[in-house]
Amino acid sequence: MADYERDTVSPEADLDERAIEGALRPKRLADFVGQERVREQLSLMLRGAQRRGRAPDHVLMSGGPGLGKTTLAMIIAAELGAPLRITSGPAIERSGDLAAVLSTLHEGEVLFLDEIHRMARPAEEMLYVAMEDFRVDVMVGKGPGATAIPLDIAPFTLVGATTRAGLLPAPLRDRFGFTAHMDFYDPADLERILHRSAGLLQVDLAPDAAAEIAGRSRGTPRIANRLLRRVRDYAEVHGDGRLTRDTARAALALYEVDAHGLDRLDRAVLDALLTKFRGGPVGLSTLAVAVGEEPETVEVVAEPFLVRSGFIARTPRGRVATARAWEHMGITPPPDAAFGAGVPAAAGDAGGAAAPPGGAGSSQS
Ligand SMILES: Nc1ncnc2c1ncn2[C@@H]1O[C@H](COP(=O)(O)OP(=O)(O)OP(=O)(O)O)[C@@H](O)[C@H]1O
Ligand SMILES: [Mg+2]
Repeated sequence: MADYERDTVSPEADLDERAIEGALRPKRLADFVGQERVREQLSLMLRGAQRRGRAPDHVLMSGGPGLGKTTLAMIIAAELGAPLRITSGPAIERSGDLAAVLSTLHEGEVLFLDEIHRMARPAEEMLYVAMEDFRVDVMVGKGPGATAIPLDIAPFTLVGATTRAGLLPAPLRDRFGFTAHMDFYDPADLERILHRSAGLLQVDLAPDAAAEIAGRSRGTPRIANRLLRRVRDYAEVHGDGRLTRDTARAALALYEVDAHGLDRLDRAVLDALLTKFRGGPVGLSTLAVAVGEEPETVEVVAEPFLVRSGFIARTPRGRVATARAWEHMGITPPPDAAFGAGVPAAAGDAGGAAAPPGGAGSSQS
C-alpha cells in the first residue's frame, strides 16, 4: 500500500493544531474575514435581538472543516457579551447528558453544540422542546410508572455546527431561525487572513508570498494558516526569517503542495488517470488499485477537491480527466482523450473558491 500521508493540506485539525489555532481566531465579527453575506445577516440579527433585549434566534452553521464555524460561534457569544457553554454531539450519549447541560444554563447564555449531527436520537427530541419552549421534560422512574416532570430552563441561544447538514433530521433543522452556510474562501480573502495571522505571529509576509500561499490553500483558512506556519519555519531555517515569494515556493515544494494546492496523493491520482488510463473514463476501484490505495481513500480524501477544482469529472462511465488536469500535470493528451462531458476546463477556480454542491450563501427564515 502506498503511503500518502495527508497532513499538510488536510482540512481537519488534530488536538495540537486546535490549540495553536486559538491564538489566530478572530474575536469579533469585524475581524472575521470573508463570508460577507453570513456576516451581515448575523450582525443584523444580533443587533436586533440586543435592541429588543431578548435572546436571538438559534443559529445553525454548516460547512466543511476549517471554514470558521467554531470561530463564528465564539464571536456570536462575544458580540452578545454573553457567556459561552461548549459541548458536542458525541458528548451527548443520552438525553440525561443534555438535560444536565440545559438545566444549568443561565439566561442569555450561548450554547455551542459542535458536531450536532452526532448527538444521540433521544436527546434530539429533548432539544426540540428546549429550543422552542425553553423547557425540558425530565423522566423520573422507569417502565409504566415513569413520569415526565416539566422543568423550565433559562432562555438561551443554541449555536449548532455541522459538517453534514444533510444528516440532521428536518424537525431539528427547522427549529433554527438562522442557517449560515459556510463557503470556501476566495484567494483574496485568504490573503487577508494570512496577513492578519502573520501580524499576530509577528512574521514579515510579503504580499506576493501571501498570494502564493493563498492560491495553495484549497479555499480553507485552516490550511492557509497551516501553510503559513510551514513557510515561516522554512524561512527561519533557510533564510533570514522573511517570507518572500521564493521562500514560499521553495517551502511548499518541499512539503509537496503544488501551485493549486494538490498534494502527493492528489497528483498520484491524476497521474494514474492520465498516464495509465489515457484520461479515463475509469472506475473508482481500478483507479485506486493503480495508485495503491483503498477506493475509499481515493473517493473521500482526494476526489472531492479534484472534482471541486475541475480536474476530474465523475461520469456514469467512471472518472474522467478534464483538459485542466492535462494542462496542470504538463502532459499532452492523446488525440482521442475523453474530456469530462459538460465540465469546462476552468470549472472551479485556481484558488479553489468554487462553491460546494448544495449551493452558496446563507438563508434566514
Ligand atoms: N473568516 C475567518 N477569518 C479569519 N480566520 C479564520 C476564518 N475562518 C477560520 N479562520 C481560522 O481558521 C482556523 C479554523 O477555524 P475553525 O476552527 O473555526 O473551523 P471549523 O469550521 O470550526 O472547523 P471544524 O469543522 O474542523 O471544527 C482557526 O484558526 C481560525 O482562526
Ligand atoms: Mg470547529
